[in-house]
Amino acid sequence: MKFRLLVAFFIACAAQLYAADINAVSAPYILTPPAPATPRINGASVFGVRPGSPFLFTIPATGERPMTFAADNLPHGLKLDSKTGCITGTLKNKGEFSVTFRAKNSLGTAEKKFRIVCGDQIALTPPMGWNSWNCFAQAVSADKVKAAADAMVKSGLINHGWTYINIDDFWENHQPTKKPALQDLLQPVRDQNGVIQPNARFPDMKGLADYVHGLGLKIGLYSSPGPWTCGGCAASWQHEEQDAQTYAKWGFDYLKYDWCSYDDIATGRIPNDKYIPRFNQSDAKATNYAGAIYPYAVMGKFLREQKRDIVFSLCQYGMADVAKWGGSVKGNCWRVTDDITDEWGRVNRGWLGEGGGDGGGMATIGFNQDKNAPYSKPGNWNDPDMLVVGQVGWGNTHPTRLTPDEQYTHISLWCLLAAPLLIGCDMEKLDAFTLNLLSNDEVLAIDQDALGKQATCVLKDGDVRVYEKELADGSHAFGIFNLGVAAANWELKALTQFGLTGKQHVRDLWRQKDLADVDAASGALPLTIPAHGVVLYKLTPAK
Ligand code: GLA
Repeated sequence: MKFRLLVAFFIACAAQLYAADINAVSAPYILTPPAPATPRINGASVFGVRPGSPFLFTIPATGERPMTFAADNLPHGLKLDSKTGCITGTLKNKGEFSVTFRAKNSLGTAEKKFRIVCGDQIALTPPMGWNSWNCFAQAVSADKVKAAADAMVKSGLINHGWTYINIDDFWENHQPTKKPALQDLLQPVRDQNGVIQPNARFPDMKGLADYVHGLGLKIGLYSSPGPWTCGGCAASWQHEEQDAQTYAKWGFDYLKYDWCSYDDIATGRIPNDKYIPRFNQSDAKATNYAGAIYPYAVMGKFLREQKRDIVFSLCQYGMADVAKWGGSVKGNCWRVTDDITDEWGRVNRGWLGEGGGDGGGMATIGFNQDKNAPYSKPGNWNDPDMLVVGQVGWGNTHPTRLTPDEQYTHISLWCLLAAPLLIGCDMEKLDAFTLNLLSNDEVLAIDQDALGKQATCVLKDGDVRVYEKELADGSHAFGIFNLGVAAANWELKALTQFGLTGKQHVRDLWRQKDLADVDAASGALPLTIPAHGVVLYKLTPAK
C-alpha cells in the first residue's frame, strides 16, 4: 500500500513537472497576419454535386464589405447571388465545368479558378464545419444550433470555407430515463406512421434547415443504425429508408451514423427474424467484416436514393478496417478512432505506432494515422474526430486543455491528414487565438487540396516527426513536429530523401511568409520547434 502511495506521489510530481515545462512556453500567440481588406477568394478549388440535387455553394471570400461576386462560365442551371456569393440551382447532366469566380470591393478585385464536377461523388474535399457534440453534448437545442450558424457568419469563418452546421446526438426523443435533465425528451419517438419525431428542443427541423441554408451554410444531423443512439435517443433501426426520406424532406445535407446500439443487432443480442450478418467487435480476430459493413451499406443506399446530396459520415470508431470499405458503402468519411478528448495523449509513453493508442488524446490519435493514408481520396476521408480547440467540454465547457503549441499541432496535423474539419467548440465564445487558428487560408488549403492525399510520416528523429503531403500543384506540405516537452533545434535537410529535386521555394504557412529558396540536395532549413509544437512549410519547385 505504502509503495503504491509512493508511486502515485512520484507520478503526480512528474505530471506537475511535465505541465510546468509545457506551460512555460505556451501563452497564446498569434502567428497569422489578418486577412487583407482587399478581396481574396479562399476555400476549396473544386466542388462535387450529383445531377438533379439542389446545389448550394457560397464563395468564401475575405475583404471589406460590401463586396460583389461574379462567376464566368457558370453552367446552365446555376445562378449566383452577386451580393452574397451564394450559388444555387441544379445541374441536369453529368459533366465537369471550369469557372472563374470574381470578387470586387472598393479596394480591389480577386479571381479564382474553380471546378464544378457534376457526377456520382460529393465531398470532393474534406467537409468543414461545426458539430454540437464537443461543446453541448446532451444540452443541444435548435436555438443553440442557430446561434452557432449565426456565429459562423458573424465571426467571418464562413469566408474561409467553413460550411456545415451539424447537430449531433440529442435532437431525437429519448428512451425511458429518470435523469432530470432529460425529462422533456420523453415524448413518442415516432408518429403513428413511423416518422421520426424531433424532441421539444427542435420544434421545426425544416425551419431550422431553411434558416441555416438562408445564411449560405449547410446543415447536418445524427443517427445510429441501432435502435438507440449512444446517448439513448431514438435511432434508425428498421426505419432506415423512412429516416433517409425524412432527412431529405427536411433539407439536411450531412448524416453522421453512429454504430452504438447496433452492437445488439450485430451480435444477435436483440433477436431479429431477418438475415443480418453478425459481427462481434470484441472478437479481436474477426476478419469477416460483413456484419460491420451491412448497416452502413443499408443507409448508404437509401441516402443515395434521395434527390439531395447528403454527406454520409460513418462513425464506428475505426473498427473492422473501416477505411478499406467505407467508400464502397457510399461513405464520404469514416471515423478511424474512438472519441477524441482535449488532451495531448500518450505519444510519449511508447504507444505511438505500436498498435495501441486509439482514441483519447489528440496526439495519440493524430500521430497514429499512417495505416489509413492509402484510403484517403476525393469523396473518401479518414476522420480522426472533431477539433478540440476553443471552449469545449461536452455540456460543461472550459478552455481546451491543449497548450497553444499543441493547438497549432492539432490544426496543422488535421490539415495534413486531409481530415474533415469540424469545429467542436462553443461558436459564441470564439477568442482571437482560436479564431486565428481556424482562419489561416494557406493552412486550410492544405486540408482542402484537390488531390486528396493524406500526409504520412516520412522521418522520425528522436522526438521529431516529419509529415509530408503531396499537393495538386506539384508542391509538398511539410509538418515538422516536436513530440518532446522542450523546444527542439533541428534541421530539415537532404530534401531529396523526400522526393524533392532542384531549387525549392519555402513558405511558412502559419506566418504566411516566404523564406529563402533552398537546394533540395545541399540546402538545409534550420528550425526551432516549440515543445509539442510544429513548423508548417510548403515547398514548391522554384521558377
Ligand atoms: C459517440 C460518438 C461521438 C458522439 C456521441 C453522441 O460517442 O463517437 O462523436 O456522436 O456518440 O452520443
